[in-house]
Amino acid sequence: MELSELKVKFTELYGGETGDVRLFLAPARINLIGEHIDYNGGFVFPAAIELRSACAVRVREDGVLNLASTSCEHRVHADISELKGYGKLKWGGYQMGVLSIMKDMGYAVCGMDMLFDETVPHGGGLSASAAIELATAIAAATVSKERAGTKIDRVELALIGQRAENEYVGMNCGIMDQYASAMGKRGHAMLLDCAKLTSRYARVELEPQGLALVIMNTNKPHSLITSAYNERRAECEEALADLKKAVDISHLCDLDEAGFKAHKGAIRRGACRKRAEHAVYENQRTLRAFDALNAGDTALFGALLTASHESLRDLYEVTGAELDAIVDAALAQSCCTGARMMGGGFGGCALALVRMGEQAAFKKAVGERYQNTTGYVPSFYETGIDDGAREVLGV
Ligand code: GLA
Repeated sequence: MELSELKVKFTELYGGETGDVRLFLAPARINLIGEHIDYNGGFVFPAAIELRSACAVRVREDGVLNLASTSCEHRVHADISELKGYGKLKWGGYQMGVLSIMKDMGYAVCGMDMLFDETVPHGGGLSASAAIELATAIAAATVSKERAGTKIDRVELALIGQRAENEYVGMNCGIMDQYASAMGKRGHAMLLDCAKLTSRYARVELEPQGLALVIMNTNKPHSLITSAYNERRAECEEALADLKKAVDISHLCDLDEAGFKAHKGAIRRGACRKRAEHAVYENQRTLRAFDALNAGDTALFGALLTASHESLRDLYEVTGAELDAIVDAALAQSCCTGARMMGGGFGGCALALVRMGEQAAFKKAVGERYQNTTGYVPSFYETGIDDGAREVLGV
């Protein structure tokens, strides 16, 4: 929904005038490359996109917190001084987690009416959840700043979002999605060093090189994600514990390919060895992809995307039939120079690098082929690369 309409919906729900309703938004993300290595101390290469979560907010002086959404009937009504015990909500867990953690950290979180609206598809691997967390966090932090002068530290807000997901939702995610939503920069992707929590921006200028990024949604809900994701993390931790007996490292991604070859024998279980191999090689691919993009070597960039998918399929085993089918269908088109799954996997979205001007034919051909193979009708998005979480003024 348009942001001006969201303000009107807000007053229909909560009463009053639109004048004192404020708007905040936080973007979803794509990840160019660097998958399943944010929690292994690796480099990832995400970008914030124009699909977003928005939040209309009005401060309340009575300490009541009301949460609502434009897309479902669920509501949360709470006392701002009692945010604990809301861990098992059908809806609202991300917001309650963020607000509760912020309160524990000393932010002056006050009563609020909040109405959320998303343009990012849920369960699509574009991290709708991080967008909701960061929209909540930026809204509450801005209001707190005005009340108590607390600073707004965007990396801290990203960490709060991650904690909310880990502690309230049980998804043991890394920092990539929340960081990208907090730190996005229009027209740029960020090479994020997940061990140090620092990043460098790189301009994404594909159009002058005759290329476009197309997001392909398998429309396969990835329900398996939480359990299999947490299982992969545990396998990586096991591999790391084995390796630490042989070599002095803090994260799997501290090893390069040569280091991995030298020490892989220390990893006892075969499955864990495969997961670690993916992490080490994916990290190196990400660094190469960053250099390739900066050097304008889009052929190498595309090849690295495809190699990433193959590793996620064969070594990390998180793709599944639908993501494999859509990536295969994309790569079968001569206008596609690279494709890979994004996010946690087992469904959700993939990314394709497509020759400019041929997107329409590409979507049609991929759509037909994918539907014939899987029975699902896919969706496609082409979206710009946006700034990070922020207040929207003048609407
Ligand atoms: C999900 C998680 C991220 C990251 C990706 C895989 O999106 O939220 O932290 O681990 O999966 O790269």
